[in-house]
Amino acid sequence: MTSIDPTPAVRDTQLPLARIRQGKIRDVYEVDADRLLLVATDRVSAFDVVMREPVPHKGAVLTQLTAWWLARMGDHVDHHLLSADANAIVAAVPVLAPHHALLVGRAMLVRRTTVYPVECVIRGFLSGSAWKEYQAGKQVGGQRLAAGLRESDRLDPAMFTPATKADHGHDENISVARMADLIGAAVTQKLERLTRLVYERGRALAAPQGILIADTKLEFGHVGGQVLLIDEVLTPDSSRFWPADDYTPGRGQASFDKQPLRDYLDAERQAGRWNGDAPAPPLPPAVVSATSARYLDAYQRLTGAPLAAAVGGPVSV
Ligand SMILES: Nc1ncnc2c1ncn2[C@@H]1O[C@H](COP(=O)(O)OP(=O)(O)OP(=O)(O)O)[C@@H](O)[C@H]1O
Ligand SMILES: [Mg+2]
Repeated sequence: MTSIDPTPAVRDTQLPLARIRQGKIRDVYEVDADRLLLVATDRVSAFDVVMREPVPHKGAVLTQLTAWWLARMGDHVDHHLLSADANAIVAAVPVLAPHHALLVGRAMLVRRTTVYPVECVIRGFLSGSAWKEYQAGKQVGGQRLAAGLRESDRLDPAMFTPATKADHGHDENISVARMADLIGAAVTQKLERLTRLVYERGRALAAPQGILIADTKLEFGHVGGQVLLIDEVLTPDSSRFWPADDYTPGRGQASFDKQPLRDYLDAERQAGRWNGDAPAPPLPPAVVSATSARYLDAYQRLTGAPLAAAVGGPVSV
């Protein structure tokens, strides 16, 4: 792999391909009828608002962590990833050659699918919106749970709690029966089975690294009769990672992700300086670098190697 200068943090991309979608985090380009280029920018969102300041290396962490996990799932789960290596991507799509530095670490060449309009959420611990639902009615996603559970308690077996993909605002939790109405019973069963498989394998690999994967969200698509795991996989943006040595049920857990950012925004809100809508208040450099450090740390803790090893160049916060 050629060595690179660290690219500055990237908020927007412009590549010589048709950009077919700009998500909160990823810019999606069409390569041809069969392939897409997903470029994870360094955009960061909190409380559903995308910040103005990008977080250095965040996009590369999301992409390289996804590739790392997929390399460890391949035999069990068909997935969309063709390459997350900028050299190979540029070789496959020569028009991207002048943009190599931008792509390093953050770009994925993937098989293009038709996306199932369902987020496949799985929860091994009672947290977030599931904890709120449980408190309100002792059930989660239409499934009854035992009384007396505490916040952050372990759920055994893990619960499959799908949600619809909302274009605006929060995703809406739906029952498994509703999911079957939307996309069919057989596909629903298959996606649940695959979601459980990826989650169980993920948490088995994370446990020796001292990380609990409290929950995660997967997406699937289909192409030519084949179901593929798509998008990002087991990243800090799509999952809750908890440091195992800190785990105490009965309270919320410090999450291994954008906690410094959320804490800052909460304080701004409480001080009456932000009403919770876009645009977000400007982020102090210390909050940006603390968030960057957190993502890099999550990558290194999980994979056992620094991000620099995956992107072939220096990485500094
Ligand atoms: N192999 C694939 N085929 C087709 N679409 C894909 C594939 N992989 C990912 N996508 C889509 O690409 C988009 C990635 O963008 P991104 O994750 O930033 O946006 P989002 O999901 O709308 O926002 P957020 O994740 O913040 O809720 C998603 O809409 C995802 O469904
Ligand atoms: Mg997404």
